[in-house]
Amino acid sequence: MQYITMNDGHTIPQLGFGVYMMTGDEIRHMVPEAIEAGYRHFDTANAYFNEVALGEALKATGTPREELFITSKLFPQSYTTAQCGSDIDATLKRLGIDYLDLLLLHQPYGAYAEAWPALEEAVKAGKVRSIGLSNFPVHKIKEVMKVATIKPAVLQVEINPYWNQHELKHQLAEMGLGDVTLEGWYPFGHGDKGIMEEPVLVDIAQAHGKSVAQVILRWALQEGDVVFPKTLSAEHLRQNMDVFDFELTADEMARVNALPQHPYYVVPEEAPAFVLAQNDYSKQI
Ligand SMILES: NC(=O)c1ccc[n+]([C@@H]2O[C@H](COP(=O)([O-])OP(=O)(O)OC[C@H]3O[C@@H](n4cnc5c(N)ncnc54)[C@H](OP(=O)(O)O)[C@@H]3O)[C@@H](O)[C@H]2O)c1
Repeated sequence: MQYITMNDGHTIPQLGFGVYMMTGDEIRHMVPEAIEAGYRHFDTANAYFNEVALGEALKATGTPREELFITSKLFPQSYTTAQCGSDIDATLKRLGIDYLDLLLLHQPYGAYAEAWPALEEAVKAGKVRSIGLSNFPVHKIKEVMKVATIKPAVLQVEINPYWNQHELKHQLAEMGLGDVTLEGWYPFGHGDKGIMEEPVLVDIAQAHGKSVAQVILRWALQEGDVVFPKTLSAEHLRQNMDVFDFELTADEMARVNALPQHPYYVVPEEAPAFVLAQNDYSKQI
């Protein structure tokens, strides 16, 4: 496993396992496989409704807590200072842990500038080690920075060969946030067949005797990003971990980075319906 040292001094395993849209049964089946395959970094969220299952499944593997890196995320319904405080406690309780390695504001809507100081409080109280943002555009990051005394350690956004986020990285560097670690969701386009058949990626995969999925993950690692692909297949899980024994050349990296750029999902400026829906995040499987 490779680790990145974040701007707050904590380390993060560069490859993890994302559990978006996984049911309790899927978590109970896949988490022991993931631990066996060497995964120690798990990415969930209040809005994935599977924190209880993830916490129990991790505990059942007997893996020492200090080996694990657990991320969760608060949804905008939590974004007042007081609500954040109690929802962080509820998140820890559901996961059955006494600290989170990383806590993110999941979506850039609502009272996020009120929420950030609550995240900082949680760091000071030892309930959370690192804090960050997800899906925030630059102008909303600037609003958070006005109230921040702790910089975001992480920004979690869509990253894949079709949306490499070089422009965002450039903008962050210009704002003095070039040391924020980028985490990439949708590395495989959320299961898009097209990206797996992309000729440039197929060609590079053949040259290395690897799969396109492995080339995408290798590219993400060499870009310096953190990545946590999701899979319900034990074979894919092992394959996705088997990316530390080869390297893309500078020319191959340049070929991937020359692919046309377009996101799979455009984060809207205003809150979309799924964010506004009144879900009860205390009800987790
Ligand atoms: N912050 C956010 O707003 C946000 C948004 C979306 C996602 N995320 C995070 O990012 C994680 C990953 O995103 P995602 O789950 O949406 O999509 P993804 O990882 O891009 O794609 C998952 C798909 O890729 C397939 N796959 C996995 N490994 C493969 C392999 N080696 N070969 C071929 N196909 C493979 C899976 O199918 P099989 O099951 O058949 O392997 C599944 O259909 C999430 O779980 C979540 O933790 C965060």
